[in-house]
Amino acid sequence: MTNFKASRRNFTTALIAAPWAVRAQEAPLTARVKLDTERVIGDIDPKLYGNFIEHLGRCIDGGIFEENSPLSDANGFRRDVLAGAKNLPVTQLRWPGGNFASNYHWKDGIGPRDSRPRRLEMAWGAEETNRFGTHEFLQYCEQLGTEPYICVNLGTGTWQDAQQWVEYVNSGADTAMTRLRKQNGRAQPWKVKYWGLGNEMDGPWQMGHRSAEDYGKFALEAAKLMKWTDPSIQLIAAGSSHFASGIDWIGWNRTVLDHLKRHADYLALHIYVGNRENDYYEFVSSAIDISERTRTAEGVINAALSSEPRNRRIYIAWDEWNVWYRARGPQQRGRRILEERYNLEDALVVATMLNAFVNNAHIVKIANMAQLVNVIAPMFTDGKQLFLQTIYYPLQLFSTHSRGQALSLLVDSPKYESKRFGPVPYIDTSAAYQNGQLVVNAVNRHRERPIQVHFDAQDKEFAGEVEISEVNGPDIKSENDFGKTLVQTKRRTAGAKGRRLSVSLPPHSYTMLRAKLV
Ligand code: AHR
Ligand code: AHR
Repeated sequence: MTNFKASRRNFTTALIAAPWAVRAQEAPLTARVKLDTERVIGDIDPKLYGNFIEHLGRCIDGGIFEENSPLSDANGFRRDVLAGAKNLPVTQLRWPGGNFASNYHWKDGIGPRDSRPRRLEMAWGAEETNRFGTHEFLQYCEQLGTEPYICVNLGTGTWQDAQQWVEYVNSGADTAMTRLRKQNGRAQPWKVKYWGLGNEMDGPWQMGHRSAEDYGKFALEAAKLMKWTDPSIQLIAAGSSHFASGIDWIGWNRTVLDHLKRHADYLALHIYVGNRENDYYEFVSSAIDISERTRTAEGVINAALSSEPRNRRIYIAWDEWNVWYRARGPQQRGRRILEERYNLEDALVVATMLNAFVNNAHIVKIANMAQLVNVIAPMFTDGKQLFLQTIYYPLQLFSTHSRGQALSLLVDSPKYESKRFGPVPYIDTSAAYQNGQLVVNAVNRHRERPIQVHFDAQDKEFAGEVEISEVNGPDIKSENDFGKTLVQTKRRTAGAKGRRLSVSLPPHSYTMLRAKLV
């Protein structure tokens, strides 16, 4: 039966330190997870662990880019932020927005930095220096070792702007655009593969907002010109995900796909969740929305593709997602905009959101946490230092280890009743399998009680050492800060043998198990 034994020292520490230990004597809660390495959902695209940087508050300026700071390298990139991004690692990076993208004129951001025009920025009520532009972004991606993803301006921009941006960045031809690129210091094209066709064009808050019909037609012409410039690029259409804002999100997606189904490779969806009501159990159920909306969007994609050849595919890109509800409010000029501070319950929600992406790995092929630093972000800086927010830790564990194929799990867990979703299991899971290595992600949503979970392998056996990485903290509201790390990953190991691995998951925790299957 149970062949799992935590090392004595860690186990003892856990019992003494954990407030749930006494209550645990009441009636133990148990759950069962059946896993079978042949039941594959799909390949986990590494781009599920992407990120996003926007010209917004202190994300770029004062986050990744701080010229003349002793903390920055010769390119003006903050070394501590770059190291933090490498340690996630970030597998894809979206830029320049976001709402900012819809009035961004990329030619303002090339050439000698001191000659670039300052512009009034209307998405977030700021002034844009243009000192960080295309060359800086692509240089940053090279240093970080990540896949760039550029979102073009389909708000106030033209088809020609979009086409010439692809030409400037990707073309090997000898043209005015490529000569300009060379003159600005870059001989070889960068060959950026992922291009977004605008941002949240369904929203009235967007500069250059259009109806689905108007956007579909406009984006189609941009898409044609962009793909004719470089047929190897992949295009991400701006879908709608704002079903709470009175926008007909399903209708928008269907109309847009009718126009773009032969040109778009991905449909972009966004999701931000929050805990405005301060209702823990409702909040930690939020990720169910991702699975439900994914299923609906997949149906819309299938309907649009029903008249197309069978090999035509459109995937889903959740290219903005996170917890975001505190630092919203009205437009602000200046610095502290959208500087959300995260706590443990937010980290648990992030882990369940990542579970939802992995559990839909057959159709979700891109996901970009919004955003990388300072602005609704896993890293936070001031002029002197950096700290890792609580949400950094689950993202890091997923990005580092949840690779390979996603497995379909049978989860039999005690449940609670949620107002929005009905019965919700306390245990939320996903699993990845690759070369005999199993990774299981398990969140125990229970606020007070541990749950003993039996992981039952159907077609193989556990063998050798199990690595157990747990993200937890003293309280669901615990936050990290400069010089204070209350929530982080703690690792221990244990042995496992046979078909069953049993692990006690502490209350309000996210645990990643890495085990060998033979
Ligand atoms: O990430 C912050 C903002 O959220 C983005 O600019 C916009 O696309 C979304 O509404
Ligand atoms: O805050 C304005 C808009 O409202 C955001 O861009 C969008 O994400 C949200 O629905």
